[in-house]
Amino acid sequence: MPNADKTPLTRDQLIENLNEDLAREYQAIIAYVNYSQVLKGAAYMNIANELAIHATEELTHALKISNAIDYLGGMPTVKPKPVKTSEKAEEMLRFDLDNEKETIRQYRRRLKQAEELNEYALSETIRTILIDEQDHLVSLATALGTDPPQPGIAD
Ligand SMILES: [Fe+2]
Ligand SMILES: [Fe+2]
Repeated sequence: MPNADKTPLTRDQLIENLNEDLAREYQAIIAYVNYSQVLKGAAYMNIANELAIHATEELTHALKISNAIDYLGGMPTVKPKPVKTSEKAEEMLRFDLDNEKETIRQYRRRLKQAEELNEYALSETIRTILIDEQDHLVSLATALGTDPPQPGIAD
């Protein structure tokens, strides 16, 4: 049921939100390309290989979200959100973990917004992306020796 105390979501707002998601995917691609090569230390070699795989998965997401934006009649952005750099392995993994958490929060909301506009194919696409993002979250948390955080859902 649409939220009664909010004005209904428009197609343009959904396009705008998806462009934010796309900017986050570009950010993730750049971060994973960089960190997978810069990460040093025997303890981190497994996760470095995983980060390289994440990079290719994020590229697939970027293509899917760009396709959705184009389908909805929007212009896919070419601007990534800012990428942080570090020399410290643990810091890099922490940045990635925080970004994945935010990405999941946002896609959980986007899925509901797609359904609000009866865009069920898009919500299905977002579900498949969410499977990857949760997998990324878990592998980063595991590499950091922590439990995966609870992302919740964006407003
Ligand atoms: Fe992604
Ligand atoms: Fe991810």
